[in-house]
Amino acid sequence: MASKKIDRVLTLELARVTERAAVAASTLIGRGDEKAADQAAVDAMRRELNTLNIDGEVVIGEGERDEAPMLYIGEKVGTGKGPKVDIALDPLEGTTLTAKGMPNALAVVAMAEGGSLLNAPDVYMEKIAIGGGYPAGIVDLDADPGDNVKALAKAKGVGVNLINVCILDRPRHAEIIAKVREAGARVTLITDGDIAGVIHCTDPATGIDMYIGTGGAPEGVLAAAGLRCTGGQMQGRLVTDNEDQKERAAKMGIKDFYKKYEMEEMASGDVVLSVTGVTSGSMLSGIERRGEEIWTDTLLMRSSTGTIRWIKARHSHMEKFHIDD
Ligand code: FBP
Repeated sequence: MASKKIDRVLTLELARVTERAAVAASTLIGRGDEKAADQAAVDAMRRELNTLNIDGEVVIGEGERDEAPMLYIGEKVGTGKGPKVDIALDPLEGTTLTAKGMPNALAVVAMAEGGSLLNAPDVYMEKIAIGGGYPAGIVDLDADPGDNVKALAKAKGVGVNLINVCILDRPRHAEIIAKVREAGARVTLITDGDIAGVIHCTDPATGIDMYIGTGGAPEGVLAAAGLRCTGGQMQGRLVTDNEDQKERAAKMGIKDFYKKYEMEEMASGDVVLSVTGVTSGSMLSGIERRGEEIWTDTLLMRSSTGTIRWIKARHSHMEKFHIDD
């Protein structure tokens, strides 16, 4: 039987998709207009995705068809002439970060074997993540945050005071923050961008050991795709508090609204993730303009091989041509 794995060349093509989206969004860095920045990224990502020889379907996108004119869930992308793949995307992760000229805004896209990504509705998701190299199950979404940091410190062989937990700075996280600090660990608060928050756990250079908290469910699936590639552990649970949220989840085929998903259930099969920096952050440089040249910095990773590529590119004529340069 033919392999359903993503073609190697196609894997590399994905970098161009996020490069384009990031460059487009970068024209609106610091302009105070979240919507315009997002729209620029969406337009560019869609245009570029449609040049790929794939029979793609957006499973995580800009929203449901009635609320998102482009890159909506269910939209077909690509030339239709290639393999059937699922596409999960966040053309601009960190619209506010971009609008305010703050670090860690990213363009993100994942491509996976058809049917292998959790079709998460646009609701919140509770999340916990750690990096690779630890025994399975040492932290748990349902455990006390204090116990989680103590368990991780033990597994890492360091004092709890050396464990650093990344948490979105939101009132809803007050109790988690208090419990982590009571246990003696550190907290790094971020204003936005929890895909980066989760992926940070996998890179010792970021100084982040764990991510805990509630953020977007689509971002949760993209982060799980990233951790599948880099190695790490993650669990997530959709937050469906009211009938509307349950209806949205049901429409996506979700039957158990309270299921605790393991990383491998959110992103199974072969998955490729491409992330390009829009503004500079702890993992990637942002878009840089040097005269006529535009420099991009991209992380491209693939689960089946575990290969991670850092692709620094200099584009000489990018803004003169939409495609085919
Ligand atoms: P946007 O890029 O769509 O603005 O999302 C940014 C983000 O911070 C995500 O990273 C995170 O998952 C979500 O928003 C958190 O939602 P909220 O701002 O409602 O707490």
